[in-house]
Amino acid sequence: MKKKTLFGAALALLTLTGCYNGNQQSNETTSPSFDEVLTTRRSIRAYDATKKISEAEVRELLLATQEAPSWANQQPTKYYVAISEEKLKAVQDMVGGNKERIKDAPVLIVSTFERGKSGFFQGNQTNEIGDGWGAYDNGLSNCYLILKARAMGFDTLIMGMRDADALRSLFSIPESETIMAVISLGYRAQEPRQPQHRPLDDIVKYYPFSCPKACNEHRTGILGFLESTRLIEVLFGVICNQANAQVILIMLFHQIQQLMANALMMIFWANQHIMQVGSHNAIVQRTNHADKFITVPCRIHRLKVPHGHYQFIRKMT
Ligand SMILES: Cc1cc2nc3c(=O)[nH]c(=O)nc-3n(C[C@H](O)[C@H](O)[C@H](O)COP(=O)(O)O)c2cc1C
Repeated sequence: MKKKTLFGAALALLTLTGCYNGNQQSNETTSPSFDEVLTTRRSIRAYDATKKISEAEVRELLLATQEAPSWANQQPTKYYVAISEEKLKAVQDMVGGNKERIKDAPVLIVSTFERGKSGFFQGNQTNEIGDGWGAYDNGLSNCYLILKARAMGFDTLIMGMRDADALRSLFSIPESETIMAVISLGYRAQEPRQPQHRPLDDIVKYYPFSCPKACNEHRTGILGFLESTRLIEVLFGVICNQANAQVILIMLFHQIQQLMANALMMIFWANQHIMQVGSHNAIVQRTNHADKFITVPCRIHRLKVPHGHYQFIRKMT
């Protein structure tokens, strides 16, 4: 009995001092990683009508947008925030076909930028983009907004479909500002579909060295056929007008990724080691540092050739 009383007293003390919470769940919430923020952010087109967002939370969100870079720190972006029922209803009627998608979003934000600031120096346009830099800065700011929103557990939809004139009059937005997007803010009511992303190679070109014109020419003949079948990745050689080619080397390389073993044939040159890997041009550079390789996303890397070390720099398409 005495033991029980002592145990009870100790437990009470621990509970009071916050050292013990029994079977209760910890209140601590963990922040999502940056990658989680990036990959879980999606355009949300159905919101949970039961979940609200406070003005303080909106303020915290918009504070984050001030961390965004802008042309000469001009900070041309401005926000007009609809939280009241009356303003929300009004904005819902100004987003065309988006109305149904955002009808339950508790916050709608109109983003604008002040013209004549970003892209200008002493009143003069700095280059051909002109006020396009204001739109650029606005996009950066909005990017911070949607990512911060996700980090806070919210969801968003950027809407380019909106009635700028009606919004201007609703919020008394000055003519000196260009109205860009309306952004809905709330909690997702359903999981979004995953959008298709273009292959990275379609949108990125690497230029580690200058490449002779021939490198970018379309290939025909047997190599073109092999490439088009995509069964065999052929690292085939140097079509880049090298007069003094010296060494020819043929290697096989298996690429599990494409289910079938892909044969790889390589032809090396002594001087300018430019070759083609399937449909990708590649540059291989002789190096004295056998263990030092640049690792870049490419089909072949850490390539070590007998009787000399070569470094696969990166592919160029
Ligand atoms: C400038 C801009 C305007 C957009 N306008 C609309 C819009 O009016 N309605 C809509 O449903 N989605 C709109 N979107 C969302 C895109 O459709 C969406 O970002 C894209 O399909 C990729 O999907 P994700 O955001 O889920 O990655 C817009 C996105 C941007 C960046």
